Parts: sequence; structure tokens; C-alpha cells
Amino acid sequence: ADEIKRNIVTKDLVLSSLPKRIKDSHKGSYGKVLVIAGSKNYPGAAVLTSIAAYRVGSGYVQLVTCKPADEIALVREPSLIVRGFEQEFFTPSCLPTVFEVAKNSKVVVLGPGLTQSDQTREFVLQLLKELDLPMIIDADGLNNIAENLDVLFQRKGPTLLTPHFGEFARLVKLPIEAVKYNYSLVEEFSKKYGVITLLKGATTIISNGESTYFNLMGNTSLAKAGSGDVLAGMIGGLAAQGLDLLSAAFCGAYLHGLAAEMYNLKEGTMLTSELLDLIPKAMEEVC
Ligand code: APR
Ligand code: MG
Repeated sequence: ADEIKRNIVTKDLVLSSLPKRIKDSHKGSYGKVLVIAGSKNYPGAAVLTSIAAYRVGSGYVQLVTCKPADEIALVREPSLIVRGFEQEFFTPSCLPTVFEVAKNSKVVVLGPGLTQSDQTREFVLQLLKELDLPMIIDADGLNNIAENLDVLFQRKGPTLLTPHFGEFARLVKLPIEAVKYNYSLVEEFSKKYGVITLLKGATTIISNGESTYFNLMGNTSLAKAGSGDVLAGMIGGLAAQGLDLLSAAFCGAYLHGLAAEMYNLKEGTMLTSELLDLIPKAMEEVC
């Protein structure tokens, strides 16, 4: 089983994988991202994820969320196209609206700040079964499928899962110590379920079961609430511009780490909102 190709993510690899900007282009040229995130108690996750998608160059970002994230997002970034449900969290009654909005989208980012409830789980499972777009599933998107992993076999589009150690441990039903930096497990899991997995840590491991990438870029400034939400949005924004989910994942992880390294004050003092604003500097550094 060791014909798996394993590589470190380098600047050259990222540079050669990133989307090109074309002079004669318009917002549609750079892909539409649909972010499905947030809940009454976790509005910030939705805001961070959707702005991150714009920062990497996507042309159009739609956020579907629950109040008050819709208004918070618009105040922070007026170019977002936002829809806010009145209810406290997502339920199956949101599905028709979500399918409608998804029609013109290129990729979906699902999960940050959703919370977990029976109704949200039902919403997430239905969405995975019925929406055939490429999908990045993070945070509570993962927690809500942990007891129903077979739903991954019903996906009709490419799927990327972006767990941290705790979330991956729950998915594979093993203790955290057994999943930490366990690249063979990431490879086996990806192969078994036909997905791409990005396992977050000080080194981030990305695999589709055939090729595995190790991202070493980044520092402890990223050990702060919301930095994973930014990563999920960046990957979505890159995928919208035409990158396959595997390339979007390793480019996103590298640029996310590099953005944190661009912060030039004391490591650990960076706010996650500042990480968003360092993404352009990271992209400038690579190109
Ligand atoms: N060195 C390098 N990178 C790091 C380090 C470190 N020491 N610590 C964290 N990171 C990076 C990870 O690689 C990952 O990209 O920061 C990001 C952290 O992502 P998450 O663990 O998802 O953290 P967070 O954004 O706070 O998650 C928000 O969603 O996943 C749930 O339980 C989580 O409720 C929380 C929410
Ligand atoms: Mg997270």
C-alpha cells in the first residue's frame, strides 16, 4: 500500500497551482462561493469564513446564515451577499432557500459555527445527499455527520473534510492521541470514504488516499479561535477559482500559515481578524 506519493508543500508548488488573474475578466471568472455557516450563538465563524473566501481572490461570496451574523457580516464587509434566517440555527426548513442560492455557486463551504442539534444534523445530512457541488466540510459540519459517516458514500460531488484532531478523533472513533499527526490514518480514511481529508495541526496533513501533502508553514499565532474558519473560507475561495479540492486544500493551508508568519509583532498577539487582513501579504509573498 506504499505507492502513496508524499510531499511537503513548497512555495513553488503553491505558485504553480494558484489561479491566474486574467485582464479581460469579471467577477464570474473567479467563481462563486456559497458559505453555509453560523448560528445565533456563533455569528463570528460565518463572518470569518466568508471574508476569507474573498481575500484569496474569489469573485462572488454568498453567505447563508442565521441572525445576527447576516448584519454583522455586512457591516464588516459590504460586498458579501447575505441571507440570514430568523431561527437560531439551521433546520431542514432552510433547505429550499439553500438549494436556490446554491444554483449559481461553484463550491460550498459548510460548517463553521453551525452548532449541533437534531434538526441541524438533519439539515446537514440532507444537504450532503442532495447538493452535488464540491463541498468543504468543517467544524460542526463534521460533528453533525460523525454518527452517520456513510452519508459520504452518497455525495455526488467532490468532498473535502477539514477536521482538527478532536473532530477527526470523533469521526474515526479513536482517542485524540491515536489520530494526532497520523498520516496513514488520514490516507486510509480518505481512500475508504472517497474524500480528501485535511487534518489540522502545527503540521497539517492533506491526502486524497493517493497523494499526501504536509504543510509546515504557520505558527502558534494560529492557535486562536476562528483561525480554522479562515482556512475553510480560503480553501473555498481558491476552489471557486478552478482549483481542484486537493490543490485548493494544500494551497490554502500554506497561504494561511504564511499569512500568520507575516504578522510582525509578538507571536500569539495576532487577532484572527488581522489574519484575514494578512492574506493579501501572503499571496504577494508567493507570487
Ligand atoms: N502551529 C501552526 N498552526 C496552528 C497551530 C500551531 N501551533 N495551532 C493551530 N494552528 C492552525 C491549524 O493548523 C488550523 O489551520 O490553526 C487552525 C486552527 O483551526 P481549528 O482547530 O479548526 O480552530 P478554530 O478556528 O478555533 O475552530 C473554530 O470550530 O473546529 C471547531 O471546535 C472548533 O468550535 C471551534 C471552531
Ligand atoms: Mg475549527
